Amino acid sequence: MGAVAIDCTLGQAGHARQILERITPGGRLLGIDRDPRAVEAVRVALAQYGPAVVIVQGRFSELGSIGAQNGFAKADLILFDFGLSSNQIDDPERGFSFRGEGPLDMRMDPTAGVTAATIVNESDVREIERMIREYGEERWARRIAQFIVARRPLRTTRDLAEAVEAAIPKAAWPRDINVSTRAFQGLRIAVNDELGEIEAGLRAALMTLKPGGRMATISFHSLEDRLVKSFFNVESKDCICPPQQPVCTCGHRATLRIVTRRPVRPSEDEVAANPRARSARLRVAEKI
Ligand SMILES: C[S@@+](CC[C@H](N)C(=O)[O-])C[C@H]1O[C@@H](n2cnc3c(N)ncnc32)[C@H](O)[C@@H]1O
Repeated sequence: MGAVAIDCTLGQAGHARQILERITPGGRLLGIDRDPRAVEAVRVALAQYGPAVVIVQGRFSELGSIGAQNGFAKADLILFDFGLSSNQIDDPERGFSFRGEGPLDMRMDPTAGVTAATIVNESDVREIERMIREYGEERWARRIAQFIVARRPLRTTRDLAEAVEAAIPKAAWPRDINVSTRAFQGLRIAVNDELGEIEAGLRAALMTLKPGGRMATISFHSLEDRLVKSFFNVESKDCICPPQQPVCTCGHRATLRIVTRRPVRPSEDEVAANPRARSARLRVAEKI
């Protein structure tokens, strides 16, 4: 029997194709993506693999039920490649990018949930500040939130970028990234509940893996990587009682063995070929 794989972030199916080349004939792959447009495009692109591939539009936090309903209740390999695909970032109509002008949307699934416009136009100033500070790791979050509220209603990505540009004094603009990068990241993570998705997705993946099966995660920023690192650390320990406690009362048992002690970073060649990979971190763990 071939391997059973689940790609939780199908995107443009670059990874799925690589996996399919290695597990077929005999193996099967379930591909999940919350973006209906990505799913439709990939259905056509992967048609050559026939019944070896099942593609489902949905969120990976629902991996347990999606897997069970589609004959993938147990898997040997589960992959997460967090964040956005180039197609999503580069399409101004999706509202993710501060370059160009588009509606202030930012939903990976444009059929569900609230848009970034609703959040910036209707939320309390303190709530906007929190999202930009916590999820964007932006130290100018308070001023940005105040400028956003003063300029309401914001309708386009340009309106948001201009509010950020006006809020941060020119002398403090970062040199290595666009001045709006962090604020856009913060709102995008909030719109899509990306951190909640990761926490639930990792737990679901652990339940779905067969003993000896592996999960691999690719993170693009420290908030994502921190969640994976801490999940792997906790799940690889036999006891998670506070260190000052003399006797174990938690009864916790390790369920994972960490395969990559340190995250794997892309080589210089890979970054030269694909600059967007520069901040990627790969972590792998095996189910015990
Ligand atoms: C970085 S891209 C993946 C690229 C893919 N590995 C490839 O080779 O083309 C991330 C994809 O994950 C999807 N995604 C992000 N969060 C998700 C979630 N919670 N559930 C399902 N899909 C999600 C996005 O819509 C996007 O298409």
